[in-house]
Parts: sequence; structure tokens; C-alpha cells
Amino acid sequence: MAFPPHFLDDIRARVPLADVIQRRMKLQKRGREFVGLCPFHSEKTPSFTVNEDKGFFHCFGCGEHGDVIGFVMKTDGLSFPEAVERLAGEAGLAMPARTPDDIRREKKAKGLYELMEAACVFFEQQLRADGGKEAADYLTGRSFDNRTVVRYRLGWAPDKRDALKIALMGQDFSEDMLLEGGLLSKPEDGRPTYDKFRGRVIFPIADRRGRIIAFGGRVLGDGMPKYLNSPDTPVFHKGHVLYAMDKAAEATRPRAGEETAPVVVTEGYTDVIALHRAGFGGAVAPLGTALTENQIELLWRLADEPILCFDGDLAGERAAARAAERALPLLKPGKSVRFALLPAGEDPDTLIRNQGQDAMARVLKAAFPLVEMIWRMETANRSSDTPERKAQIRAALRTRGFEVADKTVQQYYLAEFDKRCQEAFTPQRAQQGGWRGGPGQGQGFGRGKFGGGRFGGPPRRGGFTAGRWQSGPNGGPNGGQWVEDTGVRTDGNTDVMLLRQQQVLVAALITHPALLDEVAEEFGTVSLPSRDLDGLRQEMLASVGLIEPKDGESEVDTEALKNHLHRKGFGPAVDRLLGRELYELWPFVRAGSDIEDARQGWRQIFDRFRQRDAGSGIDDAVRALAEAPSERNKAYLERLREERERLNEPDNLD
Ligand code: UTP
Ligand code: MN
Repeated sequence: MAFPPHFLDDIRARVPLADVIQRRMKLQKRGREFVGLCPFHSEKTPSFTVNEDKGFFHCFGCGEHGDVIGFVMKTDGLSFPEAVERLAGEAGLAMPARTPDDIRREKKAKGLYELMEAACVFFEQQLRADGGKEAADYLTGRSFDNRTVVRYRLGWAPDKRDALKIALMGQDFSEDMLLEGGLLSKPEDGRPTYDKFRGRVIFPIADRRGRIIAFGGRVLGDGMPKYLNSPDTPVFHKGHVLYAMDKAAEATRPRAGEETAPVVVTEGYTDVIALHRAGFGGAVAPLGTALTENQIELLWRLADEPILCFDGDLAGERAAARAAERALPLLKPGKSVRFALLPAGEDPDTLIRNQGQDAMARVLKAAFPLVEMIWRMETANRSSDTPERKAQIRAALRTRGFEVADKTVQQYYLAEFDKRCQEAFTPQRAQQGGWRGGPGQGQGFGRGKFGGGRFGGPPRRGGFTAGRWQSGPNGGPNGGQWVEDTGVRTDGNTDVMLLRQQQVLVAALITHPALLDEVAEEFGTVSLPSRDLDGLRQEMLASVGLIEPKDGESEVDTEALKNHLHRKGFGPAVDRLLGRELYELWPFVRAGSDIEDARQGWRQIFDRFRQRDAGSGIDDAVRALAEAPSERNKAYLERLREERERLNEPDNLD
């Protein structure tokens, strides 16, 4: 209900803030203020202050800030009107009289909650009835056990025209109400209304207090659409709800002596359930749409830095970029989002099923901050080899920085971007071969585990090659005029990044030979235009099984493989490769780093190559050749590879 403004002012004026807070935590008087240990983040020395005169509390540690109503909302987990009501009760203030409109609306809402609860119970019963056998089998097949079905109140909407309608109207809910609750569809032509959810597994959607307010329904097989969701209703606003928010709030409530579960945002209902079951109780999901501002604010009630988890494919990248753009203006001191990227083709549900919860934990542990995300979005696939291009990148980053509404956070964003530009644009002395200049010798874009090239459109073509202009951005595989490469290159960063990744794929296997056997087949398919790298690879693949492990060891170690490569004449190539300090950006390349990290890291980069291949048709060609190993198919694949290599090119390790 809406409160008259004077009533809210009354509450703020008549309810002493410090009293209200002191009823919920310990405060000490210090001068004109009170201080205490902040209830919104964990700390050992007090940075939470209460200023009675101004009517505000503020935490210098986490930035949490607000008035008496805000405090009660946060600590008691209440909505605004609920907090007002509670405070009015504590202060002995009479609630303002409700208008007939208020009363009507409340009654309707109350009726709708009851309706949704009744529908939920109906769907649950149907799943257990004979007619629900197929659905129950489907859920069992997806390893939802009975406890899960009960806890998430999963159900079944029978594949009939009006099973729900008949059942609920039999319980004295009116047809109008069912329509208002979004449970019925109404044909345009005046024929009778019918059940919206038919032949679907039901995932009930609850509000923060656990009341059912909507449903998502999934087809059993591959039908379309895969999920059908309730429309917005007086009790359900899609953009204001997160799936399983009630359970996540419970799981992430701080408890003494326990580490709180991270808040994780994923895309699907089944992912949320799988995450909870694997011990990530803070998982939630938006309802089939991009995150809204409102949902981001909701997330910040649960955690300062919720982790947004996206699929590692192109669609996931786009969604991540959209979420980053949405969050940027909203940032506040201490409040941000982090990004975790899943291996391509996996969602949390499949990742946990295929690789276990440790794999999921690693993905979350590798989450990176928003500032890094924006940096990657603006720098990946962009050349920085002329002053103008450098300036363009810096300008784009500054524009992003200015989008942050909070002035303090904005300043730090601008400063951080400036610092990164400074570092990235300053050429560094190459490890080997002396000074060459140009960003190709510098550290390039896309720092961090996932490197550049992930975000943004197709790589830009063109740039100087041995002083001669090469094809422009629209060249495509065939549109370019190939200019013979004569040595020194000053390409854009994309190409350097690509080369770095190719180097990583080879180097990581030299430092972790135990992986070589496992990935040999995939390794063989990566296109390595550099002669050095390709030669190394061939020798490495040829050596699988030939090199003897050291006495007493079961696996070939990196020294043994390096010695072998030296003996075969690849010494300089190996030294150059390993001397590049690739591990600064890709820690798993370091010899002695965890083999599991190396495996994941390697696969992640490899998957990216495969996606590139898919884009250029190479994947199809590989498949065609496998199915029909004809000369023609072989030649076709060769041609595609050559074309791409001309574009990606770099031809030696420098
Ligand atoms: P996904 O297609 O990734 O499905 O959609 P999923 O969650 O992995 O489901 P399973 O594992 O195949 O059963 C992600 C989310 O997008 C919304 C739903 O909220 C879904 O959980 N969605 C998807 C829709 O709303 N409608 C659709 O047709 C598809
Ligand atoms: Mn899924």
C-alpha cells in the first residue's frame, strides 16, 4: 500500500534511530555518534556509525547506508511496507487508514497468493498421480530425487485442456481470478478459456518470503518452447524476482564462524537446483530474461559481489557483456558484480554432473571483477598500434567509466582504466631477439585467464605487415590481398593474442607432459601457423610413449620432454617459448602448477579455437573428411586452413 508522505516523516522523526538499531545490535556512543560492528559485513573493528541528528546510519567499511526504515528492511528482511508497519508498531503509531482502493488491492493480492498456492498443490499432486508417471520418470532420469522434488515443489501440469481450471474452480476460485493469476489462456475468438500450462513439468517460482507467485513449465522432451513462464500479474513482476531467492537468502545469511555461501547467478531453473544440491546454496536465476536493474539491487541485498555465471560460448559472452553494461551505472562503494565463465557448452547443471562440484568450485573461484570485464569488452579484438587507435580505446574506456553514477566509484574506474592503458601501451623489451617495438612485443590485451579475443565482434583484419598494407576489415577469408611476410610484424593485438594462445597450448603441454597423451588428438587439430610451434608439436606428438619416465616415476616429467626436444634440435624453440613468461597471464603454464588447472586451462583455450574453427567452416570440413576421407574433402579442409592461416598468420615465435 502507499503511505502518505507525512506518515513516513512522522516515523523517521518519532522513532529514535539509535534505539531501533540498539534493539538489534550493540552500539557505543562516541561523541555525537554511535559506532558498532557493522551487521552488513563481517569486521573486527567497528566502522558502522549512526548519526541520530541526520537520521542516517553509514558503514565506512562496506558503504551500507540508509535511514531507519532501510535498516529494519535489511536486518529484519522485510519489504518497505512491512518495515513501516513494524516500526509504527514499535513506536506506538497508528497506521494511516486504508483507502477502499488499498483494501480492494490487498484483498485481491491475498486471493491471488492463495490461488497460486492452490495451483502449486494441484501440480504437486498431479506429479504423484498415475498421470504423472512420465513426468516423474523424466525427473528421475535427470536425477532429481524425491527430496529435491519436495523441496522445490516440482509438479506436473497434465496434458489436458482444463484440468487445472476444473480443479481450482471446484475450490471456489473464479475464472476471472484464474485469468488474473495467469493460469488460463483466453482465445481471441470467444471460445472457452483453457489451462496455460499443459503437459509440462512445473517449477514454482516463489517470492522472498517463499510464497508462490508464478510458474515455469518445461516440456518433457524437445518441444518448443522449452519453458513457458507465467505472465506478469499483480503478484508477479518478472524483472523483480529471482528464482529461488527465498532459499538463497536463507543459505547466504551470515552465521557466526561460518563462511557464507557465495551468491551465484545462473541462467536456468535446473542450474539453480543443481547448484544448491552441490552445496552452492546461494544460487539464483532470472526468469529467462537478461538481469534487470531491480534484480541487481536484489542481489546486493544478499551479497556485495554476487557472481554472474555465464556459459562460455558466444551467447554467454553476449549475455555477460549485457549484464556488465546493466550493472555499471549502478555500482556503489563496495557493491559490484563478478563474472565466472563456464567451459563452452556446459551449464552448471551439466558441468556438475559431468565433472563434479570441484569443477564448479574452480569456475567460481576464477571469477573476475567487473572492471576487468569492461576492459576486456573494450580492448579485445582491437588494434592499438597507432596513436589514434590507442586514443580511441582510451576514449571508449573513459566513456564506460563515466557511466558509473556514483562519483567515487567513477573516479576509481577512470583511474584504473588510465593505468591499464598506460601499461598496455608501453612497449616492453622482448625476451629474446632484442627490441622490436609495437604492441606485438608488449603485453597485449586481454589479461587474465581467458585472454583477449573472447569479447567483441570478429577480429579486425588489416594492419601493417612488413610495411605493406594488407586487406581491410571486410576482407573475409578470400577478400584480402596476401602480402608476403618478411619478418618484423606490427600487427594488431588480436593476432598477437591469438599467437600467445597458440604458444600456451604448446607450452602448457611441455610443462605438463602428463596431459599430452590425453589431449593428443585435439592437439593435432589445432592450426599452428608458426613453423616453430608446429614443428614442436609434431615432435611432441611423435614422442608420446617413446620417452621413458625417470626412474621411480610413473609419468614423463617436463625435464625429460625438454631434453628430448633439445636432442631433436628444438632446443632454441623450446627455450624461446618457455622464456616468454606466458605464465604471467596463464598461470597454469608454469611447470609444477596444478595438473587439474592445466587441464582446464588448456581445454578452455582449445575450445575457443574450436569455436573459431566452427565459424570458418573448418569444423564441418573436419567432420566431412572423417566421414568420407576423400582427396577432395582433404583438399577442401586444407584450403580452409590455409586461408585462415593467412589471416592469423604469425610465422615465428617472435
Ligand atoms: P536453457 O535453455 O539454458 O535451459 O534456459 P536449462 O535451464 O538449461 O534447462 P534444461 O536443463 O534444458 O532443462 C535457461 C533459462 O531460460 C529460460 C528459463 O528460465 C530457463 O531456465 N527459458 C528458456 C525460457 O524462459 N523459455 C525458453 O523457451 C527457454
Ligand atoms: Mn540445463
